[in-house]
Amino acid sequence: MEKLVIKGGTPLRGSVSILGAKNSAIAILPATLLCKGICTLHNVPNIIDVRLSCQILEQLGSKITWIDNNTLIIDNTNISKTHAPLDLTSKFRASYYLIGAMLGRSREIEVGLPGGCNLGARPIDQHIKGFEALGATSNLSQGKIYVKADKLVGTSIYMDVVSVGATINVLLASVFAEGTTIIDNAAKEPHVVDVANFLNSLGADIRGAGTDLIKINGVKSLKSNITYSIVPDQIEAGTFMLAAIASKGDLIIKNCIPEHLDSLTSKITEIGGNVEAYGDTIHVWATKRPSKTVIKTLPYPGFPTDLQPQMGVVLSLAMGTSIINESIWDSRFQYTAELNKMGAHITSQGKSAIFEGVDKLYGAPVYATDLRAGAALVIAGLVADGITEVYNIKHIDRGYECIEKNFSSLGANIERIVEN
Ligand code: UD1
Repeated sequence: MEKLVIKGGTPLRGSVSILGAKNSAIAILPATLLCKGICTLHNVPNIIDVRLSCQILEQLGSKITWIDNNTLIIDNTNISKTHAPLDLTSKFRASYYLIGAMLGRSREIEVGLPGGCNLGARPIDQHIKGFEALGATSNLSQGKIYVKADKLVGTSIYMDVVSVGATINVLLASVFAEGTTIIDNAAKEPHVVDVANFLNSLGADIRGAGTDLIKINGVKSLKSNITYSIVPDQIEAGTFMLAAIASKGDLIIKNCIPEHLDSLTSKITEIGGNVEAYGDTIHVWATKRPSKTVIKTLPYPGFPTDLQPQMGVVLSLAMGTSIINESIWDSRFQYTAELNKMGAHITSQGKSAIFEGVDKLYGAPVYATDLRAGAALVIAGLVADGITEVYNIKHIDRGYECIEKNFSSLGANIERIVEN
């Protein structure tokens, strides 16, 4: 078992470079199945969820080579199977993208029902609704789902909820559908746009990604070769921004897209932090204790739910009482119980939490309940008095490549310890 041991209290200073987005990479990896040739992907984060995606693709017949730590060559010339390994697919959320991609490629796929962070109910009804509207049938039993189509025909699909996963999945399934598919009330997240850009670079005809109406004109084939670079991870960048504010530090965050972080920048400025953006770089710093605020998480371009726990740490140290309303996930406040062990005063009920700001947090043993909760606890440890031990860090490794190395390079006292 591994844990992170953090001696807090040092303001973070220096610069850090952001890698490709986890949520984009784990959608683009299955999306490569639509290419019957070779895809070279740059800026791929070398994290557990990406390595799991690679293993699943390999079991379907992909040949994958890491040519350096963040570059992958994927040869999908010979995909021989339509049943994905259930033990692997049930381990993480994004395995559902195999359905859209394999429907497009082979018109058939069986996968284990997706796992991933425990954030409350995570239905896939909108994905299924989209596939069925295109002409597929689905059968869900014994923890797995089988989806098949004799042919896929474009149609108009209205999403009942704004869903990143369903938008990307239906996009994947409709690339080769006959005629035109319209996805209405689509998600607008940067990784939706990134997947569409990847597919368009391959020869797909997708318009409107990044708006709530996406139009896909079906094509008969795609190119057999592509080189593509994954979009920078807005959540990793935001995590470092919030670590800078919480620690009253001063960070230069490179290789990011500042516009993707507008909602966070606006909140940081509102609570007294400083942000300057130029080109692909963000300079973020704080010299004083943050002030209180009210936040509601929303689909992009609203405040991202995946930065809510990290912001929760900042607000637990703010002057006055702040409120966070979580509108996406039912169980995203599990981290607040861990922060309270460190001296925070947070009361959460359902999808709301009240943060009565305290002067200080104190080091304690804490447990990462999910990926972003884990990142939040690391930030809390970095600013707390004394020693914090963060357990269950496999969650953190699913989404951050060597989080301790990055924070160490910024002056933090943080170490990964292997325990028997
Ligand atoms: C993705 C991200 C996750 C992020 C979330 C919201 C990945 C792998 N994960 O998750 O980190 O927190 O977007 O930005 O990219 N819903 C339904 N029916 C569906 C699908 C979703 O009701 O068929 C609901 C969900 O319960 C949730 C909301 O829609 O309340 C948004 O979910 P969605 O955007 O689909 O999240 P994911 O794609 O699973």
